[in-house]
Amino acid sequence: MAKIQVVNTKDIHRFVPILTGLEGDFQTEHYPYFLTYCGILPEDKKDAGKYWKVWLATSTGRIVGVCGLYQAKRVDEVMWIGYFGALPDYRGTGVGAQMLAFMEQKAKENGNKKIAAYCTKEPLEWYFKNGFRPWEMNDAEKLYYEDYLGGDFIVVKNL
Ligand SMILES: CC(C)(COP(=O)(O)OP(=O)(O)OC[C@H]1O[C@@H](n2cnc3c(N)ncnc32)[C@H](O)[C@@H]1OP(=O)(O)O)[C@@H](O)C(=O)NCCC(=O)NCCS
Repeated sequence: MAKIQVVNTKDIHRFVPILTGLEGDFQTEHYPYFLTYCGILPEDKKDAGKYWKVWLATSTGRIVGVCGLYQAKRVDEVMWIGYFGALPDYRGTGVGAQMLAFMEQKAKENGNKKIAAYCTKEPLEWYFKNGFRPWEMNDAEKLYYEDYLGGDFIVVKNL
C-alpha cells in the first residue's frame, strides 16, 4: 500500500465508508461518538476540553481506515487509541501500521509518554507485534481510570 494520507474532517458524509465498512468491528453503540465528533450530537460536558481527534486515512483518494486519539483525563501522560480500524479490503497492507505510526507521532507531539488501547482479543496479537505489552493496572491506576475500564484487554507502549 502506498503511503496513506490522514485527513482531519468533521464532515459526517466522509465517515460513511467507515460506518458501513467497519460495522461488526465497531459496535454500533459507538456510532454516536462519530456524530458528536462531527458536531451533530452535543458533547458531554465532562469531556469538554479533553483531547479528542479522529482522522480518516486515505489512499489515492479512497478512504481506507480511521484512527482516533483521546485523553481520559485533562492532564495525563497517556494518549488512548480509539475508533481505530482499517477497512477489510485494505487490511494486511500496512494501513494499520501507518496509522499507528501517525498516532504515535501525534501523541508524542502532545507531550505524552505512553500510548494505550482497550481492545478485544482479536487485534491483541497485532498490537503485540507493533510493540505494545499488556497493561496490568495497579490499584491507583484502576482508580484513576475507573470511568474508562471498559475493554477486554488493555495494551500500552512507551513512546
Ligand atoms: C488491527 C488492524 C487495524 C490492523 O490493520 P492492518 O492494516 O491489517 O495491519 P497491517 O497491515 O499494518 O499489519 C499486517 C500484519 O499484521 C497481521 N495482522 C493483521 N491483523 C491482525 C490481527 N487481528 N491479529 C494478528 N495479526 C494481525 C497481518 O497478518 C500482517 O502480518 P505480517 O506483516 O507478518 O504479514 C485491522 O486488522 C483492523 O482494522 N481490525 C478491526 C478493527 C480493530 O480490531 N481495531 C482495533 C480496535 S482497538
